[in-house]
Amino acid sequence: MKLFVLNGPNLNMLGVREPDIYGAQTYTDLENYVRQVCQREEIEVEIHQSNHEGALVDIIQSAYGNADGIVINPAAYTHTSVAILDALKAVALPAVEVHLSDVSQRESFRHVSYPAMACIAQIKGLGFQGYEKAILMLKERILNK
Ligand code: DQA
Repeated sequence: MKLFVLNGPNLNMLGVREPDIYGAQTYTDLENYVRQVCQREEIEVEIHQSNHEGALVDIIQSAYGNADGIVINPAAYTHTSVAILDALKAVALPAVEVHLSDVSQRESFRHVSYPAMACIAQIKGLGFQGYEKAILMLKERILNK
């Protein structure tokens, strides 16, 4: 089983960016966390981060035929990107959207998610653990399909 884990804009700034909201751990810490969960679960993983919407679309397209599922934190593109929604629909792989913070408790513009319309679940407010939950959810879905 292989998963793609995708992270959108400004997540490379974890540890520096608004630590009161996103915590003190860095993007490298997040990558290490995801790799360790996947190793434990015997899942192959490719982790990507981009600040560019089109690059995220390209990565989602490249998952077609190469991955069994997608974990995606589209970051700010969550609230704007029909292109990411359409890319997820195009590849039709099971996908779970993750947010470190609880977007439902923040500004109203963060309450809308386009990509979530093509996801089996949206996990929010659990920090790094949200990624673990998403990985386990996808594993379960893929093994039982
Ligand atoms: C985020 C929430 C988004 O609203 C925000 O734009 C981000 C990060 C999160 O992980 O909590 O960049 O996706």
